[in-house]
Amino acid sequence: MPRVVLSLPLPGPAQAMLREAATVEVLGAILPAPEYRRAVVGADALLPQLRDRIDAAVLDAAGPQLRVVANYAVGFDNVDVPACTARGVLVGNTPDVLTDATADCAMALLLATARRVVEGDAAMRQGRYHGWEPDYMLGADVTGQTLGLIGFGRIGRAVARRARDGFGMRVLVHDPWLPGPLAEPGVSACGLDELLGAADFISCHVPLTAETHHLIGAPQLERMRASAILLNTARGPIIDEPALVQALRSGTIRGAGLDVYEGEPAMAEGLAACPNCVLLPHLGSATWTTRARMGELAAANVLAALRGELPPHCVNPEAAAGGPSPATG
Ligand code: DGY
Repeated sequence: MPRVVLSLPLPGPAQAMLREAATVEVLGAILPAPEYRRAVVGADALLPQLRDRIDAAVLDAAGPQLRVVANYAVGFDNVDVPACTARGVLVGNTPDVLTDATADCAMALLLATARRVVEGDAAMRQGRYHGWEPDYMLGADVTGQTLGLIGFGRIGRAVARRARDGFGMRVLVHDPWLPGPLAEPGVSACGLDELLGAADFISCHVPLTAETHHLIGAPQLERMRASAILLNTARGPIIDEPALVQALRSGTIRGAGLDVYEGEPAMAEGLAACPNCVLLPHLGSATWTTRARMGELAAANVLAALRGELPPHCVNPEAAAGGPSPATG
């Protein structure tokens, strides 16, 4: 039987699916790099988490029989894809199944930050609410405001629909990486500077690449409105986090809602002390159904590769041309 190495146990049927065709080894933790390299020796498939770094050293430690790296995430910035392709290792990810959950989470952050939900909750729990007053804990309007989306892939589009159809928001989009036109009614494309200056809410939905690293830094924060609220449910390093802390402290922008962090799980110094931000621990896809579906998809990616087929969601199909022959067992 081929051997599949999972870092952490998965919710849902994924492990049972894998056991039909492979020996499944669950490491039970995100291991330090040297231990992880030792654990993957001889594996035919890896099913890592976004916290595992899959680099050339891991691939070489696994050995030439390794067929597939099926990341348990839609993002795959933790995987050195060119190194996988060079070794004929297919890389799979888990798109679509987490689009709605992540878009819902972006809207939750938008609403919570605008309407000061977390501050209000804390006031209630700590006995600091002494009765209704006309100017108590005022927040920002959401309905009819302008939302700027940086990135218009699956999740960006799902956020646009929620904002436009649910909250009557005007939606601006900056996505120079889109292969074609926006093709979404009620949504207008614009340059980054124009979006930064016009939007009441700015939400990041781009993958982390060399181009998007620190796409939002001090100069971009300066261009935003003083009333702007910045949201990030994509990847932390898209935002220069120390610069954001500075902007939140100085009132350069009104607030931020974050689900991801530059040095995750750590946060930039001072961020936790900013009352004008809402902080979530990377919960974008964290619903029971979504996490089970991600597992099913990752398992399907593994099983297809082990059968010698292209995984249903493969980010480097070109690796199939030059790879080793499929694992048998
Ligand atoms: C992903 O899939 O990339 C998310 O960050 C975790 O679900």
